[in-house]
Amino acid sequence: MKYQMKIYDDPDSLVTGIYDHLKDLFTSPLPDDPPVHIALAGGNTPRAFYDYLASRPEGEIRWNKIHLWWGDERCVPPGNSESNYRMVREKLLDRIDICARNVHRIRGEANPDSEALRYSKEIEENLPISSTGLPVFDLILLGIGEDGHTASIFPDSDFKNESTGYSMVTSHPKNGQSRITLTLPVLNQARRVIFMVSGGSKADMVEMIIGKQDEAIDLPAAKVFPEEGELIWFLDRDAAIHLNRQEKKSI
Ligand code: 6PG
Repeated sequence: MKYQMKIYDDPDSLVTGIYDHLKDLFTSPLPDDPPVHIALAGGNTPRAFYDYLASRPEGEIRWNKIHLWWGDERCVPPGNSESNYRMVREKLLDRIDICARNVHRIRGEANPDSEALRYSKEIEENLPISSTGLPVFDLILLGIGEDGHTASIFPDSDFKNESTGYSMVTSHPKNGQSRITLTLPVLNQARRVIFMVSGGSKADMVEMIIGKQDEAIDLPAAKVFPEEGELIWFLDRDAAIHLNRQEKKSI
């Protein structure tokens, strides 16, 4: 499995670099094309990217063909400051012309186990299913935590817990907050997976994962390797600072 790495001088050029790479996905769907299903990342890093998407000229992005999902959600109400849905609503949804049926939020206010099942069913009803029985997202955007988590799959999570289908309930190791997250097999079924990583605080983890250091092998972010899809690490210079010349080449 090959993956690519793209390194940019600063967070702003990181954002435009990701958009330039994904422009076809966002702008080319024709009326008769199938819908494009994108799972969004939470946290702070992607805020600037969603802001950039919202700032594109009207009509450039075919929002009527794009369905937005969440890779994970904190189990809080949608208006809570911790909510990944609220972050995307403020940075993107409130500023674009997208119909409600194209927005598939995880209901953080619901019972976590029930919601993991409901969300899985909504995914099953809307996405193409692979021959191995997994939903195929066109794009999954991911960040990484300093502990090597991605989405809300944490180092102590049961990585492949499919008891509730394609999404599962986890809890944040530090504050115990319940989360709902897509499972690792679903992440690895996507046509494209993009890690968006910015800032020096992630540099150690980036080096461990990209450098395939032993202590990283079992970390969730290191286990994201799409079976057939494209995997690209989009990094700014600070996040890539520990990578050596060899590791910085597309491999
Ligand atoms: C979340 C995210 C999580 C995030 C990383 C990085 O809900 O917080 O899904 O996986 O991507 O924790 O977060 P930052 O971008 O805030 O550093």
